[in-house]
This record gives sequence, C-alpha cells and structure tokens, in this order.
Amino acid sequence: MPSDRPLLASDRRESSTHSDERAAEEDTALLGSQRKDAPKPQSRARSWRELGLFTWAVVATAAVIVLAVVSQHQASKNGKKAIPAGKRNLIFMVSDGMGPASLSLTRSFRQFEGGLPHDDVLFLDQHFIGSSRTRSSSSLVTDSAAGATAFSCGMKSYNGAISILPDHTPCGTVLEAAKRAGYTTGLVVTTSLTDATPACFASHANVRSEEDLIAQQEVGEHPLGRVVDLMMGGGRCHFLPNTTSGSCRGDDRDITKLAQEKYGWNYIDNREDFDGLKLGSAVKLPLLGLFAGYNIPYELDRRNMNDIYPSLDEMARTALKALEAATRDSDKGFFLMIEGSRIDHAGHGNDPAAQVREVLAYDKAFGSVLEFLDESSTDGVLVATSDHETGGLAVARQLHPTYPHYAWYPEVLHNASSSAEHSSRRLRSHIFNGGDNLKDFISEELVKKGLGIWNAKDSEIQLVVDNPALSSYYFSDMISRRARIGWSTHGHTAVDVNIYGSAGSEALRGNHENVEVGKFLRDYLDVDIESVTEELVEKSKSFKIAGAAQTSWTGKIPSGEDLQSAERKHEKEYGMAP
Ligand SMILES: *[C@@H]1O[C@H](CO)[C@@H](O)[C@H](O)[C@H]1NC(C)=O
Ligand SMILES: *[C@@H]1O[C@H](CO)[C@@H](O)[C@H](O)[C@H]1NC(C)=O
Ligand SMILES: [Zn+2]
Repeated sequence: MPSDRPLLASDRRESSTHSDERAAEEDTALLGSQRKDAPKPQSRARSWRELGLFTWAVVATAAVIVLAVVSQHQASKNGKKAIPAGKRNLIFMVSDGMGPASLSLTRSFRQFEGGLPHDDVLFLDQHFIGSSRTRSSSSLVTDSAAGATAFSCGMKSYNGAISILPDHTPCGTVLEAAKRAGYTTGLVVTTSLTDATPACFASHANVRSEEDLIAQQEVGEHPLGRVVDLMMGGGRCHFLPNTTSGSCRGDDRDITKLAQEKYGWNYIDNREDFDGLKLGSAVKLPLLGLFAGYNIPYELDRRNMNDIYPSLDEMARTALKALEAATRDSDKGFFLMIEGSRIDHAGHGNDPAAQVREVLAYDKAFGSVLEFLDESSTDGVLVATSDHETGGLAVARQLHPTYPHYAWYPEVLHNASSSAEHSSRRLRSHIFNGGDNLKDFISEELVKKGLGIWNAKDSEIQLVVDNPALSSYYFSDMISRRARIGWSTHGHTAVDVNIYGSAGSEALRGNHENVEVGKFLRDYLDVDIESVTEELVEKSKSFKIAGAAQTSWTGKIPSGEDLQSAERKHEKEYGMAP
C-alpha cells in the first residue's frame, strides 16, 4: 500500500538520529535554501544513497496524491451515477422540529414498550447519513418557513418567508419545477396544508400567516396554474368560506368549490371517503383530502378516536400507490413531500409523551417509503431531514440541587394515554359545560386516566384549577419532571438536525447547509428551478388573485412586527407562551 509511506517516513524520523539528519536534508531540499543548521557534507556513497531515497520518497508521495485524486474523482463519478438516467421517483420527508435528542428519546421509549434489546433501533437510525445546519438569513434560529424555503428553493431567506427571497421576489420551487418537467407531485402532512412546510413547495407568500392566500395558490390560483396533483392533511378551515361553521378564512370564498369547479380537484373531507381510496388503488387525481379543520390530532390521541382521522402512514402509503399508478405510463416519475408536522408542536408544547408517538408515526411512514422503493420497479430515492429542532429537548433533567441521578424514565411516557393538548381541551370543554367537580375531574379524569400520573400532589392539581388557561403547560411539565425530561424553550433552537437517506442519497453524507438538501432535490430530479423563478417574476407583474384585496398575489410586505407576531402566533398555538 503506497499510503503506508508517509506514516513510515515519520516513524523513521522519530526512531533514529541517522534519519533525523536525512530529514533535515529533505527539509532543506524542499525549502530550496540552505538551512543555518545544515549538517556537514557526508561521504559520496552516502549522499547518493540519500538522494536515491529522497527521489523515491518524492515519487511515492506524488503517486499517493495522484491515486487520491483519481479515487476521489471516481467516487464523485459514482455519486453522479447514483442518479439514474431514466424515470425516477423522489420522496422527501420532513420531520418538523425533530432534533437528535428526539431520536434517543424515542428509541429508548420503543425499547421500553416492546421489551426490546438495546440494539433495537428505528428505521431512521439505520439510514442516518449526516446532519444539516439550519440558520436562516434573518436569524441563527430558523422557523419552518425559512427552513422549508431552503429545501424548496435551495436558498436562504428570512423567518416567515414562504418561498420568497429577502428582496420579496418569489423563488421557483422544486415541486413547481418538477411539475413543469412532467413529474406528478404530492404533499402529505399532519398539520394544515396551508402551514409553512407544505406551503413552501406550492405557493409564495411574504409571510406565513397568509394562509387564506396560500390555500388559493395551492389549488391552482397561482401564476403557474395548478402545480400539485395530490394533497392530503388538515387545514380545511382555510378552504371554507367565512359563512360556514368550521371556517377560519377572512373572506367568503369557498376554496373547496373553486378547487373542484375551476381546477378539477376530487375533494374529500372525511374518513369514509379516505377508506374509499383503498389505500391508493382507487384514487383519481388531482386529489384534495382535507381530513381536519386544523391539525390532525396527535398520534397519541388520534388512535383513541375510533380512527376518524387517517394516520400519517396511511396517507403516505395511499399517496405512494396513487402516484405510482398515475405515472405508470409516463417517462417521468413523481415527487412527493411527506411531513411529520406535529413533532414540532409536541416540542413547542414540551410534551414528551406526545412527541415519542409522533416520531414513531413518522418512523413508520419512513419504513413504508423504504418498502415502496424496494418493491418499485422504478428507480427512486428517499431523503429525510428536519427544518430545525424545537424545545431544546434534553434526555435527562436535574430537579434538585443534589447531584443528579443518571436516569430517565420511559415508563412515565408509556403510562400517558392522552396528550397535554388533548387533556387541556377536555378541561376547557368541561368548564364550558359548567365545570362541575372541577378538581375531581382534573385529578381523576385528566391527570390519572389521561396522563397516567397516580401520584400528583394537591398543589399541582390546584395550579391547574387556578390557571386552566395554562393547563397544557402544567400537564406537560408534570410528565416531563416525572420522566426526567428537560426542555430549554417553548420555541425553536439552532442545533444541527439529522439527515437520513436511502441508497442514492450519498451526496448528502456528512454535515451540510440546509440549502444543499434543497439542491440535492433539484439535482436528483434534474429540473430547472431558475427558469421557474424567471417565469414567476415575469408573471408577478400582471398576475392578480381574484377576489382578494391584495396589492400583490404574494400578500403585503410585512413589517418586522408582522413577522414577529406571525412567529408568536405559531408558538402560542402549541407552546403556551405567555
Ligand atoms: C366574511 O367575508 C366577507 C368578505 O368576503 C366580509 O365582508 C365579511 O365581513 C366576513 N364576515 C365575517 C364574519 O368575518
Ligand atoms: C405506570 O402505571 C402502572 C399502573 O398502570 C403503575 O403501576 C406504575 O407505577 C406507573 N409508572 C409510573 C412511572 O408512574
Ligand atoms: Zn415550530
């Protein structure tokens, strides 16, 4: 092995005074000038021998360099080769708000629940390839809007930006470019389809709170027309007119009607119709499935609700099957974004019992995508990452001044059968209905049966009685303390997040800037985002959204205060920020 050579040489330097002299000579030769402490001339034979050795060293070093360059070149060619020449599918998964600690937490929780050995790991663990640096253009701590813009456009922007650059011009997204290039496209989420992550792939807005505008663009009221073929998730309220109950729109436009009548969507909004899709074998595109007014409930709660909401895994499998069928006779495959949206919400709420179930649900969907790729005759790749971490989760917690125990207790999370959010909602409705036996209701129904806490102190229950508006915060804290789980914030953090991928995603090995993940997506699909950007900028000059009192189709340019209040609104909804 030629690469032994430099190691050997430096060993020799250290092992004898004789070679010390030679080393000094080598240094002199390399430096090209006489050293002050140059050794005395030696015998002729010895000099020749030295020269021979030196020449050999130079040649060997050169050979090592050449070999290294050649093999690196070969490796990058192989990296290119990993992108198939023909038809291909790309599945991009986003675990919103999931940092590295969430994985440790969930892995141990799963081992505890299943009585599994210490080497039992998640699907995600088996496909770990690197990490992503997440800062935005406006802050070291990003939000999901800037985070998803880095993925969709491959560019940094400010917190709150929905595929809009810091100069407030739109940037073309990988989904738009994929649609232009003939791919079929899909979005699957567990939060509102108008929330930041899905919004960044199929719409453009100066601030993330423009969810009414985002809904319109997503169905096709967009300078490029309809760019999505399949959308499933929550957020129905932004598609319903303000004259209907269950609407959260500011105007009386019916976007579900607009979607069906003008843009040809097949619209469904309930479990029965979802079951009618037969996990994808009976889907007609374009398909719009809005299964909840706002969020689909946390997995921890959803599964106790008679399955009225589809799970992330069910939606993901349905989407994969439908998109594969729709592209069967096409020479282009599909691009699908799947988001485990509510890992972030559990982080904002500092609720570890809800979070482990969200991560497990995401891991299950990740496993289904891997299985799909294994079985599909079309080439494809799965890349998964997070936009940022949420909560500053710590998998240990010191509760007393004395030296802490080295332990945390998954059993506490296992005993919970209700999220803090759901328990808090039950409390609100109990109070709304008269609030009989409030303290009993809290301690028996919510804390014992819901949270699985049998040893609550009277003072803890009293806090909830006195401040029901903060109950979700207190419930999360009761669980976190007992499980010895720590949190540093109800907001996001700047820690690097993990990147996962199937075979073919090797270009994302190691530590990357989040925009490089976005660039990988466009490179894999081999689509031209720049021309989409140019088209959007050109069309922006004349494009107007019908019926909207907007000066621009991307909404008004927000002040710093508007951006802050959009961020606070998101945080308040799940984090109980004061
Ligand atoms: C509903 O929207 C219309 C405009 O489309 C507006 O004039 C009206 O005030 C809204 N109503 C409510 C209750 O927000
Ligand atoms: C979990 O619940 C069981 C009873 O269902 C109880 O025996 C156990 O002590 C609980 N564990 C914790 C950590 O609270
Ligand atoms: Zn968030």
